[in-house]
Amino acid sequence: MADIVQAAKLLGDARRVVVFTGAGISAESGVPTFRDALTGLWERFDAQSLATPQAFQDQPDLVWGWYEWRRHRVSTVSPNPGHRAVAAIESRVPSTVVITQNVDDLHERAGSRDPVHLHGSLFAPRCSGCGEAVALPPATAEPDAGRRVQPPACVRCHGLVRPGVVWFGEALPEAALEAAARAASACDVLLTVGTSGMVYPAAEIPRIAARAGAAVIQVNPHATPMDSVALVNLRGSAGRILPELVTKAWPDAATADPAAAPS
Ligand code: APR
Repeated sequence: MADIVQAAKLLGDARRVVVFTGAGISAESGVPTFRDALTGLWERFDAQSLATPQAFQDQPDLVWGWYEWRRHRVSTVSPNPGHRAVAAIESRVPSTVVITQNVDDLHERAGSRDPVHLHGSLFAPRCSGCGEAVALPPATAEPDAGRRVQPPACVRCHGLVRPGVVWFGEALPEAALEAAARAASACDVLLTVGTSGMVYPAAEIPRIAARAGAAVIQVNPHATPMDSVALVNLRGSAGRILPELVTKAWPDAATADPAAAPS
């Protein structure tokens, strides 16, 4: 049986699905990966020097400026057929849990209900002092001041507002990690898409599912350490493979579901 046919059969028969995504699913929308984000104004920096609590303590304006620039970049791009196919899976299997390592909001904008953000989000800043969530105005323009932008102060405790992402050396948000592990251990099918499967503890999630007896299906143009965990490896881009998988898993519904149609 062709791999995609086998994968579509597994997906179409599944009652509990987890979709686990990484940078690769957003690559086709033009979101630079973490390391590629250090381009243009930022090419002389390295991620290790910007994405740490220490960096924010030493140079909050530099770190905040980098994240504002990234938030702006994300706001200029759109979800692609891969994100929309994930939302289509959710509409076919309503108990589907989407778990992403991405800090962009493209799953939400494609129609995914409540993706679990294991590494936080560019759109969920909070006070570095008291932890209060802070609503930000849309990032409509590149920061005028170039690289350095002073972070806002918390209205409650006057602490500096920090990006709501997980930095090197920080723990993953406990509730997100627990929800992800719970979903992975209870699913029939876990689809791992566009992730190298090398960054822990997130990379445990597909392994938890496999150990619990779920069928793991991987979508990635390249070989990854997840190849040996996956029952089916679909080599190719998320934007091409995922819509095809949805169409094959639910052939009757595909034409009626605009979310499943590539555009
Ligand atoms: N479709 C599917 N997969 C793709 C595509 C595509 N169009 N393009 C690239 N890929 C794959 C690559 O082959 C690679 O395996 O996406 C993967 C991206 O790997 P990473 O850059 O390591 O991204 P990710 O796995 O999300 O990294 C995890 O590490 O950089 C930190 O915190 C950051 O959340 C991130 C974490």
